[in-house]
Amino acid sequence: MEVRLASKAGFCYGVKRAIELALTTAEENEGPIYTLGPLIHNPQVVKDLANRGIKEITVLPQNEGGTVIIRSHGVGPDILQEAQEKDVRIMDATCPFVARAQRYAREMAEQGLPVYILGDPGHPEVQGILGWTKGKGIVIEGAEEINPVEDHRVGLVAQTTQPLANYQAVVEALQKQGLQVDARNTICHATGERQQAALELAKTVDVMIVVGGKESANTKKLARICQETGTPTYHVESAQELQEDWFREAGTCGLTAGASTPDAIIEEVKRRMNEMDQMNGEEAMQDAMEVK
Ligand code: F3S
Repeated sequence: MEVRLASKAGFCYGVKRAIELALTTAEENEGPIYTLGPLIHNPQVVKDLANRGIKEITVLPQNEGGTVIIRSHGVGPDILQEAQEKDVRIMDATCPFVARAQRYAREMAEQGLPVYILGDPGHPEVQGILGWTKGKGIVIEGAEEINPVEDHRVGLVAQTTQPLANYQAVVEALQKQGLQVDARNTICHATGERQQAALELAKTVDVMIVVGGKESANTKKLARICQETGTPTYHVESAQELQEDWFREAGTCGLTAGASTPDAIIEEVKRRMNEMDQMNGEEAMQDAMEVK
């Protein structure tokens, strides 16, 4: 069986940067080090960070100092303010692409524009951007959620992982209402590139394996895209979840991974797939000999 890796897979720039910052912070600083929420949606990485003394917290510590790492999704200004008041040191790993969306949203709000934020209202990245809009933000998931506003001008930014078509539909719908739209395409290419590479690969193989956290939205999306091609697709977090049966009939197998999956886990999955293929081959040979 031939194992083909998607041309774009695994860690994106922002996630890699956040992990590197967390590791250097742990190496260079005394005292407790925290991440506000899981640094990335990958349980193995979170466990590894915990072993190095980097603990996950959900609220800022109460006046005990320490260092808190802000993850790539970013946060609103309220958290930064709270950290200052509590004397907590902040190491900001907000992805520069997310920081750009925050900056645009803040500038638009300062100009007095209502700011549409296209994205998942429950996602921390969207909540962070919303925090920078000084109460002028309106989160929508698509064009159908746009309600008439009194203003003539509005702003628009997007969660970095939004599909381009959704963003374009919102721009069109706002313009159709006769509004002047300050639309900033803040979509990050990493997600789109990974999805495109997974789609192209899934169309050419017998089985597709998608590696990444079960809670990772971008990994789940990759799995869905592959599944929709009709190719049997399995979403695993680690090599231990692979099953020999999946590869018994396969001549080619595709492999891709979410933006929060480290190379070491992808490599381990690939190695295990090759081992299973070898075992399947040996079993088939034994069966053939028994028939003789
Ligand atoms: Fe940043 Fe794009 Fe990754 S926004 S965190 S590089 S998916």
